[in-house]
Amino acid sequence: MKDLFERIIKDKGPLGKWAKQAEGYYVFPKLEGPISNRMSFNGKELVTWSINDYLGLANHPDVIKADGEAAMEHGMAYPMGARMMSGHTKFHEQLEEECAEFVHKESAYLVNFGYQGMVSAIDALVTKRDVIVYDVDSHACIIDGVRLHHGKRYTFKHNDIESLEKNLIRATKIANETGGGILVISEGVFGMRGLQGKLKEIVALKEKYGFRLLVDDAHGFGTLGEGGRGAGVEQGVQDDIDVYFATFAKSMAGIGAFFAADKDIIQYLQYNMRSQMFAKSLPMAMVKGALKRLDMIRTMPELKAKLWENTNALQNGLKENGFDIGDTNSCVTPVYLKGDIPEAMAMVNDLRENYRVFCSIVVYPVIPKGLIILRLIPTAMHNLEDVDITLKAFSGMREKLEGGVYKRIAVAMMAKSE
Ligand SMILES: Cc1ncc(COP(=O)(O)O)c(C=O)c1O
Repeated sequence: MKDLFERIIKDKGPLGKWAKQAEGYYVFPKLEGPISNRMSFNGKELVTWSINDYLGLANHPDVIKADGEAAMEHGMAYPMGARMMSGHTKFHEQLEEECAEFVHKESAYLVNFGYQGMVSAIDALVTKRDVIVYDVDSHACIIDGVRLHHGKRYTFKHNDIESLEKNLIRATKIANETGGGILVISEGVFGMRGLQGKLKEIVALKEKYGFRLLVDDAHGFGTLGEGGRGAGVEQGVQDDIDVYFATFAKSMAGIGAFFAADKDIIQYLQYNMRSQMFAKSLPMAMVKGALKRLDMIRTMPELKAKLWENTNALQNGLKENGFDIGDTNSCVTPVYLKGDIPEAMAMVNDLRENYRVFCSIVVYPVIPKGLIILRLIPTAMHNLEDVDITLKAFSGMREKLEGGVYKRIAVAMMAKSE
């Protein structure tokens, strides 16, 4: 018999194998200073495009005050225990009511983390008789939730309605045999490439196929739709989303998440979602902090307006300068480039050290080999000077990439680290 750890130590995984070259810089970097459009990295101030603080609430003095006062009053422990047992308060209920009302649903239920909540909600919503049909580019939390499913599942091509319908036909056949139902899962905004899920087109198939629709709107909440009510409102189909999900980790600049749906469905989740039944409730500082943030989103429409002013300036500027930003129709701004992983590392190093721009880099295995995505997240904190600096930096960087400069640096870097 082999020692389990023998393999783990030898094979560090597709990303882990780059740890020696990447750790502390490309992965696990330490961004310091207050969360804003400019943060400190390795002692230098950089224009920062990798914080999902869309509305600029993370470091807003009113938010810091609300968080601080709640922590002073309750500490970080209160309430203790799971919601069902001893961790329930009127403030948790109030936040749920306000979230539900905000996204035009009857009822809502809080979860401590979006990722775990989604895994657990999928697990709770289906039995082995049911069939799941989900977008192949879904976030890991959806994929991992589907992994728990004991019944059939089909993926459809990314945002491809024809492919969805083909799979619905297969799913219908199975569900008719097992006596189960169909759950379709998509996202409000796909966070890597920035495409909104084609919710309107998906909803149009509901009558024919009789499925229920779960939408992860992590990136749409706060950024899209009237008042930031999300992708469903933006596309005019919020009522047809059966289970709506948003995390507090992005526009709400906090932690936690919620599901919103009809009362019966939320009650079912309250009594069947294992991530909440068997885990401590969301701490009060998070709950009171989230109430404050939601109030600010409701009463300060200028935050979303500023976010979109910056998004438009950045996206239009990139397009005018000949960059490929794909088909994004959200704030998520991907810049598609060609190159291998070492080249991408050299490029990002140059961007940070010489151009003073910090953005996320996405490479294989998250996207196909040979493709690099530099992913920029505009926020309400950014300004037109940040956009200008970034456009100049990207133009300089592209010239070097195309001239093979990063390839040569990468070869030297790799030789040095061997
Ligand atoms: C689409 C999507 N769903 C779910 C999550 C997970 O949310 P959380 O950070 O609250 O666990 C994220 C990332 O934060 C996300 O981008």
